[in-house]
Amino acid sequence: MDLDPILDAAHSFAGAVLFPGDVAVDATTGNGHDTVFLAKQVGESGRVYGFDVQPEALRATTQRLDAAGVAARVTLRSTGHEHLRRCLPKADHGDVGAVVFNCGYLPGGDQEIVTRPETTVAALRASLDVVRPGGRVVVVLYLGHDGGEEEARAVREWARGLDQERAQALSYRFVNQIHHPPRLLVVEKCGIENRPPTRDGPPT
Ligand SMILES: C[S@@+](CC[C@H](N)C(=O)[O-])C[C@H]1O[C@@H](n2cnc3c(N)ncnc32)[C@H](O)[C@@H]1O
Repeated sequence: MDLDPILDAAHSFAGAVLFPGDVAVDATTGNGHDTVFLAKQVGESGRVYGFDVQPEALRATTQRLDAAGVAARVTLRSTGHEHLRRCLPKADHGDVGAVVFNCGYLPGGDQEIVTRPETTVAALRASLDVVRPGGRVVVVLYLGHDGGEEEARAVREWARGLDQERAQALSYRFVNQIHHPPRLLVVEKCGIENRPPTRDGPPT
């Protein structure tokens, strides 16, 4: 059996804590692949909030959502993910199942428009605030472009500084791939009291 590539692993980690009716966030919608994945996970009764700073990305995401027939359950925000807290309804604060970040630049788009350490870390802080206990913040990081290593370092430092009573942080990466393989960071908020029953039954 092959190990999950990073993007598949990102979906597995996020998907494992998402249930029909949940709220999820795509912090960087880009071409919409992750948004469609999240929309399918939360089902018809759920809601996904998607953020991107590029109209081109939001157009591509809208097209992909329409093609998948899941656009009605997604709200797209044409703004940076650093504004996540105030862009989400108050009622959803503390109740979000998962937030997914796929950092870097838009594939096929302007490579100068990239996620940045300060705004990414600000958005990660906000994300951990809005997820429910047991919810996850999943971050895919790319190191091959200008600023990528700096962003990955800032994100790692943020995660390493988290109180282990508040959240668990996991790094998933291939250590023998050539060039600059992407990395995955998963942060899970501690506590499962608000978590819906798992597929294996209720939490014990
Ligand atoms: C690697 S792409 C995302 C890929 C996407 N998740 C997908 O499934 O296709 C990174 C995206 O982050 C966006 N971005 C850059 N800075 C941002 C910010 N501050 N807030 C939200 N999105 C941002 C870029 O415009 C770009 O579309």
